[in-house]
Amino acid sequence: MTNDTRSIVILTGAGISAESGIDTFRSAGGLWEQHKVEDVATPEGFGRDPELVLGFYDARRAALASVEPNAAHRALARLASQYSGDVLLVTQNVDDLHERGGSKQVLHMHGELKRALCQSCEMRSAWDAPMLGRPKCPICQSPSLRPDVVWFGEMPYQMERIYAALSTCDLFVSIGTSGAVYPAAGFVQEARGAGAATLELNLEPSEGSHFFAESRHGRASELVPAWVDEMLAN
Ligand code: OAD
Repeated sequence: MTNDTRSIVILTGAGISAESGIDTFRSAGGLWEQHKVEDVATPEGFGRDPELVLGFYDARRAALASVEPNAAHRALARLASQYSGDVLLVTQNVDDLHERGGSKQVLHMHGELKRALCQSCEMRSAWDAPMLGRPKCPICQSPSLRPDVVWFGEMPYQMERIYAALSTCDLFVSIGTSGAVYPAAGFVQEARGAGAATLELNLEPSEGSHFFAESRHGRASELVPAWVDEMLAN
């Protein structure tokens, strides 16, 4: 991070929303202790028991109504609006807290709870209602909706655009992610290989902490606003 930094790619994970009250995946008592990944986050699980899967995502979507963005989400929105260079915000999160925190452009590489994907016409649409009752697709009227969330075994969204940004950025920052799930876990090596500075902001060292040139450990709601202040002061 120098005064020459012009283009920043930011990757966020569940840790940035933890202080808003959304469970992370791999913490003690986290989502993957409460549910089996293969049951609720794979196409095979959906094929076996669609009601279970739709109910799981209906509950997560409904829970968004009772949480608010925190200081970390708001700080990233401030960075994007005030920074003189380019900022690409990529999130693995399917919640809408970045948008509600003021971020205008968010690349949701693992999809969004508030979007539906029709398995019949393959169109995506904004969606904010339960899917368990098999509502009709607003486009083709087929009762074939699933959450527009990327499951294990499926390709995350907009990978070409993300890799292009990683290959030209000056700084890659990872916030609140365990570094356990690829391809996102490999972004740091991609950026570093292309010559970018790399920074991790996480509660604890992540699995890929050693790949980062700099790591800061603590709560996102404190680390992220402080880092944004530094970037805007430069
Ligand atoms: P994880 O639950 O794997 O990791 C969350 C990280 O956030 C951990 O390293 C925590 O230490 C850290 N953390 C927790 N509270 C924090 C706080 N207040 N401030 C800063 N950091 C904090 O979540 P992800 O890395 O996002 O994918 O998980 C990646 C993907 O795995 C998810 O997108 C999801 C999941 O399976 C799919 O479902 C496809």
